[in-house]
Parts: sequence; structure tokens; C-alpha cells
Amino acid sequence: MDKKREKKSRRDFLTNIFMGGGLFASLALFVHHVIKFIFPPIKDTKLRKLLVGRIDELKLGEAKEFNIGDRSLFLVNTSDGYKVLSAICTHLGCKIKWEGHRDRFYCPCHQGIFSPSGDVVEGPPPRPLEEYKVVVDKNLVYMWLEENVGGLV
Ligand code: FES
Repeated sequence: MDKKREKKSRRDFLTNIFMGGGLFASLALFVHHVIKFIFPPIKDTKLRKLLVGRIDELKLGEAKEFNIGDRSLFLVNTSDGYKVLSAICTHLGCKIKWEGHRDRFYCPCHQGIFSPSGDVVEGPPPRPLEEYKVVVDKNLVYMWLEENVGGLV
């Protein structure tokens, strides 16, 4: 009889430990999410000025493709000045092509069409191409690139 009681008591003890631990873990996770919501993580970003071309390199209406790291980009000489646009379609992320003879960007995946300024002209893309800030200094064209350099998550 005593052995049975002792066994039951040990089982109760272990049940309480596991239930208490689970409850504590759930509560800790909840508190963690509440704290993250109230104090969002601080992203540490850095702006870099990158040389992307010369002003005599592209005539009005011309574009050139280039890469920075794993980013595919276009430098375009438009009637509104130089623009740096992402070469990634805003629909499903296919790579777009510059069609100079038609004065447009074309996405071969679902026939999305963008103007030289990156605005959607036709097709399913929901928004314009991502655009980067450009600065022309003397005869050089620079772009500003924001990079994540770590920080608290
Ligand atoms: Fe470009 Fe669909 S991915 S139009």
C-alpha cells in the first residue's frame, strides 16, 4: 500500500514539474513577444554612396544593367534624370529585361511592363519597381544603398 502511494506521489510530482515547466515556458514566450511588440528591435543600417556610372555613358532613353552584391539593378537615363531601379519584378520576383527599342522594361514571366521610370504600364505587377536614391555629382552618377549591418533582433 505504501509503495503504491509512493509511486502515485512520484507520478504527481513529475506531472506537476512538467505542467509547471510548460506553463512557465508559455508565459515566458508570451512576455517575450509582448516586450518585442512594445520595444521593436533596433535595426542598425548604414547608407553607402556607390558610384554606378558616368553621365556621358548613357544617352537619353538608354539603360544599363549592373550588380551590387546579389542585387540586380538598372541605371536608366530618363527625361526626369538618372534613376537606379531594381531589376526584380514586383509581381513574383522574376528578373526584368530592358527593351530599349520599345522604351520599356519587360518581365517575361507574366508579361509585366514597366516604364523607363519603373512605373507599372501593363500586366500583373502590383507596384512600381523599387527605386534607389541617385545623386549626380560633376559627371558621375552615384546611388545610395541602405545596408543592414546587424543590430538587435
Ligand atoms: Fe513579373 Fe509576374 S513576375 S509579371
